[in-house]
Amino acid sequence: MIPAHVPADRVVDFDIFNPPGVEQDYFAAWKTLLDGPGLVWSTANGGHWIAARGDVVRELWGDAERLSSQCLAVTPGLGKVMQFIPLQQDGAEHKAFRTPVMKGLASRFVVALEPKVQAVARKLMESLRPRGSCDFVSDFAEILPLNIFLTLIDVPLEDRPRLRQLGVQLTRPDGSMTVEQLKQAADDYLWPFIEKRMAQPGDDLFSRILSEPVGGRPWTVDEARRMCRNLLFGGLDTVAAMIGMVALHLARHPEDQRLLRERPDLIPAAADELMRRYPTVAVSRNAVADVDADGVTIRKGDLVYLPSVLHNLDPASFEAPEEVRFDRGLAPIRHTTMGVGAHRCVGAGLARMEVIVFLREWLGGMPEFALAPDKAVTMKGGNVGACTALPLVWRA
Ligand code: HEM
Repeated sequence: MIPAHVPADRVVDFDIFNPPGVEQDYFAAWKTLLDGPGLVWSTANGGHWIAARGDVVRELWGDAERLSSQCLAVTPGLGKVMQFIPLQQDGAEHKAFRTPVMKGLASRFVVALEPKVQAVARKLMESLRPRGSCDFVSDFAEILPLNIFLTLIDVPLEDRPRLRQLGVQLTRPDGSMTVEQLKQAADDYLWPFIEKRMAQPGDDLFSRILSEPVGGRPWTVDEARRMCRNLLFGGLDTVAAMIGMVALHLARHPEDQRLLRERPDLIPAAADELMRRYPTVAVSRNAVADVDADGVTIRKGDLVYLPSVLHNLDPASFEAPEEVRFDRGLAPIRHTTMGVGAHRCVGAGLARMEVIVFLREWLGGMPEFALAPDKAVTMKGGNVGACTALPLVWRA
């Protein structure tokens, strides 16, 4: 049923998990909404608002006071089960928990991690290069962030395969695990490491965060679990999706491959621009007060969906938004790929470094690559859109 306060001309039938044509092109599927009003009501998934214009996406994302993060709304059951810290917190409580997480991911630690990320990337590439082809998603994009995460929390190499299967379920859930089972499997995997780091801190990410007090007191076990879960779920499929999109762009644009091979000094700016051009994260909010936006009223209790793609690809946000122009990255780009305001990604610096290292290592170590002519690229929608298959070929 459509609530009485939703004007009829705002109603659309748009399923965020399966936008029309998403399998072929995530971005084109979402962009269909840019032709209509700035705030629409989708009848799918129980009914919710979608911010459908750049300025509206940005404005609502920045309104953490009236739009709460607590429930992770649109995905049924997800928020209740996951209870992420700090993602699902508001106000002063959020700030108290976010601060130690920010400290743990501070830029000096990110810089120190770079050689390890480089080593992980090189090792993966070594086995791929002689093959002459790969499915970039399952052979590289999904594995790199998983190995980086495990390096971050100092998990020994021999303990890694167990998380691989879980990693696949996180990035490409096939329905074989419920949200509860996924949460449980992640907790079971992470718990021995959390327990050890709480008792005897080392210099890994979990230790750094958990040894910072929360509002002047130590973390409880439950809070520690919820935070570590957030880091695991927040830093895998997002990075995998981004690296997949970057590789897709380069496969389609050999001229950009050539340019970045010849001018590796352009890679940081290119990474920023590619991250703007290929945003795949969308978030949910729950209105805790009435909010007027784009000429309509979001009522207290309504759900709102904020897709970064509809900000970054709105021609009112960026000139010719679909064109990748590396010189855009020479100045800070006001994109929403990593979010806006109070909840802006705490892993943004780490993610950027991963994309830069990927570009540098892949372009430096692999020959020119292209899409496999006989196989299809496929994509998926949802809170993190992504390529689900990206067949690449090169001369071995
Ligand atoms: C390209 C990769 C990434 C993208 C696109 C991305 C995107 C985002 C976005 C859009 C948000 C805001 C969520 C909201 O407003 O509700 C966010 C928050 C967050 N991200 Fe990332 N992220 C990435 C990588 C990472 C990494 C590598 C980590 C950590 C290892 C991480 C951990 C988190 C956490 C903990 C939050 C919650 C912050 C808070 O609520 O205060 N993310 N991310």
